[in-house]
Formats: sequence, structure tokens, C-alpha cells
Amino acid sequence: MSWSEFGKRFARRTGARELMDDLGDALASDRDICMLGGGNPAHIPEIEAVFQAEIERILANEGEYRRMFANYPSPQGEERFRTSLANLFNREYGWDVTAKNIALTSGSQAGFFILFNLLAGRQPDGSFRKILLPVTPEYIGYQDLGLTEGMLTALKPTIEELEDHQFKYRLDVSNLEIGPDIGAVCISRPTNPTGNVLTDNEMEQLLSAARGAGVPLIVDNAYGMPFPQILFTDVKPVWNPDLIMCMSMSKLGLPGIRTGVIVAEESIIDAVGSVNSVLSLAVPSVGAVLLNDLVASGRILEISEKIIRPFYVAKKDKALAHIHDEFEGIDYRVHKPEGALFLWLWFPGLPISSEELYRRLRQRDVLVLSGHNFFPGLDVEWQHRDECIRMTYSQDDSQVQRGIAAIAEEVRRAWQEAR
Ligand SMILES: Cc1ncc(COP(=O)(O)O)c(C=O)c1O
Repeated sequence: MSWSEFGKRFARRTGARELMDDLGDALASDRDICMLGGGNPAHIPEIEAVFQAEIERILANEGEYRRMFANYPSPQGEERFRTSLANLFNREYGWDVTAKNIALTSGSQAGFFILFNLLAGRQPDGSFRKILLPVTPEYIGYQDLGLTEGMLTALKPTIEELEDHQFKYRLDVSNLEIGPDIGAVCISRPTNPTGNVLTDNEMEQLLSAARGAGVPLIVDNAYGMPFPQILFTDVKPVWNPDLIMCMSMSKLGLPGIRTGVIVAEESIIDAVGSVNSVLSLAVPSVGAVLLNDLVASGRILEISEKIIRPFYVAKKDKALAHIHDEFEGIDYRVHKPEGALFLWLWFPGLPISSEELYRRLRQRDVLVLSGHNFFPGLDVEWQHRDECIRMTYSQDDSQVQRGIAAIAEEVRRAWQEAR
């Protein structure tokens, strides 16, 4: 096929496509695959029961049914739900937003595609602007979002070593310079893949640098407050017109409804609505209607705090305990897990690349992700990026345990071969 420029760029095997295919193949196979690779949220029975009850209530009510399935919503997303979200944010956190500050997108991934391309790329005056990722490792899904090549640039963090084989990436303020070639700054908090939560102080430094440069700070809050609260530190969500706050309904346990939320100043929301209408006329209302009562009543906070967060805390603690047992004698570090579904493992000086470690594990039917995928836009040499892997701990405990044992064996084998 003779593809257009757009076709060439988007029809190729991007990193994200390969990962999704890899995960899909594994799920489709009838082998007993130890699935520590994906970002699928866990299936928590109590949470599924809440959503099932909501679906039954909606299906029994003609007006709600029509709102969910039978009417086109506005291009910014279903209005009643956007109002319920605005009320929740104002009531709980003292934000000052209305439905006009909120747009829905078909998953937050689509929201990042729209935002990145609205704010970066070729400018009307012929110059070119990029999205700055100030702390890598960072979410792989940002990698190929640009309509043109080279839309991301990234900074290397500093590494703080902590007790108990842990470490934490820190914003390297000495490198933080936002020049005229930057259109926006973006950070996931909690971070996929590391579980890092930038401190309030780091967030203030980023915001003030972004403000100084006259560009927005995009905060990807897919795992954070107020939902789903897969977050193990205290964070008070803030919003102001210099911030673009992005949220997702996926990690509540609903990745199939493809519902993302953007909170931003009105002109940005209006622009997102325009892009939505070109791409798809409107975004689906299924998530908006399904979740409306939970948001309007504030129950979504309760289920996040009382069911989802404790579920992941217990999973994370178990996985960490297995790691400390199995990795005895190995030189390893774990990024301090402060949120999200992942543990980020670092093997300093690993004699094989993390990609080779990934391949060896895959041969044993253990799926993790090689860390080298998670440095979008970083174009400096750094051995560290070939020394890390990401593993998900949201799956079945016995699988997680088996996977961790296999990782330990393969790392030991790599060191034995090198000696
Ligand atoms: C940090 C982060 N942002 C955004 C997304 C996209 O989520 P969705 O498009 O399902 O809302 C993900 C998915 O894994 C993620 O980990």
C-alpha cells in the first residue's frame, strides 16, 4: 500500500502497538502465561458488583437507557456527567470549575493525542514546539502521539538511593529549563512505569517553570486522586488554569468503556471538543451515564478509598515481600512504590540488556516489560535504561509469585554466564 505521510507514521509497528499485540497474543494463548506485562486493572469482585448494580438500575430506566445509548452527547462529552464531576471537584477540593472546564475523551490516551498535537508540533509561525517530559522513565503511551516526528523531549532524573533496596527518581531541577521550543510539560503522577509520585515541592517547581515559560503543565492522573486512588502517599489534588489535569476511568476496573476526563481552562476544553467532533462527532456516553450517580453522590471516593486502594496496597506488599525473599544475594533495587500497578526493578550492572532479560522470561511464559521502552524523548546515552524491567502486581498472587521467582532465576543465570 502506498501510505500517506500520516499513514506511514501511524500504520507502522509502534512500540505501543507491539506491546498491546504481545499482551493480546498471550491472553489468547491457552498456555499458562504469567502475565506481569500489561496495565490491565485487577478484576475486584466488590467493584464489579457495584458497576453491575448500576448497569441493572440504568437498564431498568428508560430515560437513563436513552441517555446512555440512544442520544448523541455534546462533543465535549455528556453534559450531566461533566457537571457532576465539576461539583465533586469543587466540593471535595475547593476547585473552581464548571462543566465548561471539563471534556471527556474516548479514553485518556485519546486525550493525550489531542492535547499533545494541540500544543506542540509545527506552529503557525513555522517554528516547532515539543512536549517536555521532565522525569523519565515515563509512560510509553506518549511515545508515538505526535502527528510529526520528534515531538517529545525528555530529561534524565537524579536517583536517590533509599533503605531496603529501594530508590526514587527525582526531578533534576538543575536541568529544568523551558525554552521557546516547548509547548507543554507533561508528567504522569503516579508514574507508569515506576510508581513514583512527584512530591508537592517538585510539582510546584514544575508549575512555576511552566508558568514562567507561559506553557501549561499536563498532569496525567490516571491512577491518582480522587479516583481510582491507586496511590499510597498523601496527595491533595490541585487544579488551576495553568494546569491540565487528565483522569481516566480505566483503572477503576473499566478500561472497556474508554472514558477519559480532561480538566482545563475553557479555551482548551473548547478545542478538545472541536477535535472530538472531527474525530468521532461525540465521545461515547456509556461511561458517563454508568458512573454519574457514583460521582454525583461522592460514592466513587468511598469505593476508591475503601476497596480499590486497600486491594492494591495488599498486592503491592505481597509482591515486595516475594521480591525481597527471592532476590536474596542479587544486586537489585525496587523503585519506591507510591502508586500505580507496577513495580520497577533495577539491576545495576546487569550483564545482559533488559530486552534480553525480557526475551528469556518470555520463553518461560513469564511476561514483563523491558525498561528501555519507557524513556520516550530521552536522547542521551544512559546505561540505566537497559537495566530495568516493569512488572505488574495486579494479577493473581500465585502468578506474581511464580513470575518473581523466574525473574530472580534469570538474573542469577545472567550473572553466572558473565563470570
Ligand atoms: C499513565 C497512564 N496514562 C494514560 C493511560 C491511558 O489510559 P486510558 O486510555 O485507558 O484512559 C494509561 C494506561 O495504562 C497510563 O498508564
